[in-house]
Amino acid sequence: MQQQPDSLLLDIENLTKVFSIRQGFSTKQFRAVDGATFSVEANKPEILTIAGESGSGKTTLARMILGMEQPTSGVLRYKDRNVAQLTRQEKRAWFFREVQPVFQDPFATFSPLKRIDHYLYETVRNYQITDRAGAAECINNALNQVGLTLEEIKGRYPNELSGGQAQRVSVARALITNPSLIIADEPVSMLDASLRMSIVNMFRGLKDNHQVSILYITHDLATAYYASDRIAVMLRGWIVEMGPVEAVLGEPLHPYTQNLKQSIPSADPDQVWKDKVDLAVLDTERSVHTGCKFAGRCPAVMDICRRKVPPDIVHKGRMVKCFLYE
Ligand SMILES: Nc1ncnc2c1ncn2[C@@H]1O[C@H](COP(=O)(O)OP(=O)(O)OP(=O)(O)O)[C@@H](O)[C@H]1O
Ligand SMILES: [Mg+2]
Repeated sequence: MQQQPDSLLLDIENLTKVFSIRQGFSTKQFRAVDGATFSVEANKPEILTIAGESGSGKTTLARMILGMEQPTSGVLRYKDRNVAQLTRQEKRAWFFREVQPVFQDPFATFSPLKRIDHYLYETVRNYQITDRAGAAECINNALNQVGLTLEEIKGRYPNELSGGQAQRVSVARALITNPSLIIADEPVSMLDASLRMSIVNMFRGLKDNHQVSILYITHDLATAYYASDRIAVMLRGWIVEMGPVEAVLGEPLHPYTQNLKQSIPSADPDQVWKDKVDLAVLDTERSVHTGCKFAGRCPAVMDICRRKVPPDIVHKGRMVKCFLYE
């Protein structure tokens, strides 16, 4: 399938996921992702960070983009095609090759009882990338892109690899189908600081040298600042601030982003941001359906914030969903 010269790689519009949660005898509707809207250009590879506290909807958003979760409403387009309208055949032959996942724990992806190269051969076979003879070359190419060779990992079991190596292999597995988009859900959170940087640098290399765009989901604002081009900050299903990473993390405008940034000392990449969610506050707030979702915790809350949903405002080169900038 040929790509149009100026098309969008990914274009999501009002993407929403409603979960029904049973509470006693009643069920409550809960918006895990609530109207997410953004796009990624096709001919301008980028690393786009999705950040936000635990439970803000990052994984649910990722799973919808990967086709692992059905959106409740909204539109998801990939290379100008509405993904919901693709046939099963088109998804298998095209979409699932183009958009590949990388998960948090590389050791959970690989069974301890199988040799690690087994997974790479399996992927080649599943997607019918090449014949048996071409498989080794295809796998070696993918491994080269992450700084490894087939020779190095051949015959080894997962426990014989370091965490960094295992995560590189899982990225290599994702690269076998020659994807244009990788969705990496907390790919470095299990790794220590120095390895984190090496994986993030590898992502930059994939972007610069292989035209792969990466959706980088993380709690680690230090690597996000260092590696990504743009950042979207999620709060309870909303994207509350989005724009170039220097702008958003350099001078955060949304009170929630300010709060996020304060909670990690940016000079120390080893500090993982710990969420500060007060669950009691969340629960009472969840029953409120009007107004800003941050109103209950916002130091700058105004009367209107409790009555109306804030609009998406373009201010200082980014989008911010807050009445302060109206
Ligand atoms: N299958 C499901 N059924 C009901 N609720 C769900 C389901 N999956 C996720 N949720 C809820 O949706 C919300 C968003 O979850 P999600 O996993 O997307 O958050 P997250 O931002 O990835 O969090 P974390 O940083 O902890 O990984 C959470 O409140 C979660 O409990
Ligand atoms: Mg998650």
